[in-house]
Amino acid sequence: MTTTSDYTEKIPNNVGLRDDRRLQRALESWQPNFLSWWESMGPALPTQDVYLRTAVNVGREGWAHFTHVPMRDYRWGIFLAERDQARQIGFGEHKGEPAWQQVPGEYRADLRRLIVIQGDTEPASVEQQRNLGATAPSLYDLRNLFQVNVEEGRHLWAMVYLLHAYFGREGREEAEDLLRRNSGSEDSPRILGAFNEETPDWLSFYMFTYFTDRDGKYQLGTLKESAFDPLSRTCEFMLKEEAHHMMVGTTGIDRVVERTAQVMVENDTDDVAALGVIPLPVIQRYLNFHYSVSLDLFGGETSTNVANYYTAGLKGRWMEDRRKDDHRLTDDSIMVDALEDAGDGTGSIAQTEVAALVGLNTDLRREYIADCQSGVNRWNRILDGAGLPQRLRLPHVAFNRRVGVFAGIEVTPDGQLLTAGEWDRRKGEWLPTAVDKTHVRSLMRPVHERGKIAGWIAPPRNGINGKPFDYDYVRLA
Ligand SMILES: [Fe+2]
Ligand SMILES: [Fe+2]
Repeated sequence: MTTTSDYTEKIPNNVGLRDDRRLQRALESWQPNFLSWWESMGPALPTQDVYLRTAVNVGREGWAHFTHVPMRDYRWGIFLAERDQARQIGFGEHKGEPAWQQVPGEYRADLRRLIVIQGDTEPASVEQQRNLGATAPSLYDLRNLFQVNVEEGRHLWAMVYLLHAYFGREGREEAEDLLRRNSGSEDSPRILGAFNEETPDWLSFYMFTYFTDRDGKYQLGTLKESAFDPLSRTCEFMLKEEAHHMMVGTTGIDRVVERTAQVMVENDTDDVAALGVIPLPVIQRYLNFHYSVSLDLFGGETSTNVANYYTAGLKGRWMEDRRKDDHRLTDDSIMVDALEDAGDGTGSIAQTEVAALVGLNTDLRREYIADCQSGVNRWNRILDGAGLPQRLRLPHVAFNRRVGVFAGIEVTPDGQLLTAGEWDRRKGEWLPTAVDKTHVRSLMRPVHERGKIAGWIAPPRNGINGKPFDYDYVRLA
């Protein structure tokens, strides 16, 4: 049996909110602040209603339903995956003990911090995407943007629920601060760098949902392993929604590459900017940027904090239970990226062996990199299928990094070391230039008519929930 949520309440949930008046009141008093944040920082384009997926349950079948809803009436609910009564901690020094239903006092501050960092990214992306509706290439894409936005809003609810339910007064203060910080703000920016970058155009949006949302998938994957069971169950359910966000990014870039390839072949030229599409080198530069800032989100190559989180059972590895080792890692080691002093004051890129526990950021980043490569392979198959010799690729891990050992050096996308002067002179070859951005922005004209699509992107192969591409996914105000 699955727990059904009570949709008659103000806050749809499957966490038995009606039995906890104190918690219910705390969340009900946070809700108006959330709604005024949504009004002022959420999607700016006025709409009547949008064909949205709403989470209504957590069971294997029918966890969501689709219908046209005015966005302000979207039911941001609190859903945790079903509880496994027998669940045991899967790693660290508490391995084999029953999962925690309450926060142990000694881990309170660390768990709160982990939840706040995750929670901060959710509203940040909504803020970054606030103005994209005005330039959507189709109603289908507009609907997907709004779907991602409302679900990131729901993910904020998920983290705020944990803060309110398990962290007392400090948790309530953190919940307020999640609405007080804003992406790109001078005085109170979002916690992580990539979430203060702007998402000014749809190529950036697809790159963001491919590369940066994918970082979120990996972070949620490590928190899903947590010994703190309510966090684990919350993240497990969030991952279900994330799959759609990944799809938006993957197929969004597919469609940009497909359209560019088509115009290149039809006109037998690489020089397609004047033909109303995005040239491959520009796509490559956007990719280089979004990939490198997303790599930074995984932190330094080594981290004793993360080692401690693992040993304590707060945060595991990606696919922890598929790993063939002792899940304690006290005797293991890992090779991580490092800089070697060449003796003349310059460094060269090398590897060094460290204890597996302190190298966990590297482990997670490698899983992420392998996953990113699968998208690049897919886009290259589109180029190959069009008969074109050009290929996209992931730049070197040291390229354009601002966090970790590579923060102090500059390299080409191939990993060749550069002096600071060379980097400044040549970075326009590898990162989006003012000309690139102006060109991409010039293509961003809204197409808000049913069944129509902008000229710089191919239509999707499938609609949403079995509906055709020309469905009225969004009704504008
Ligand atoms: Fe999210
Ligand atoms: Fe997401």
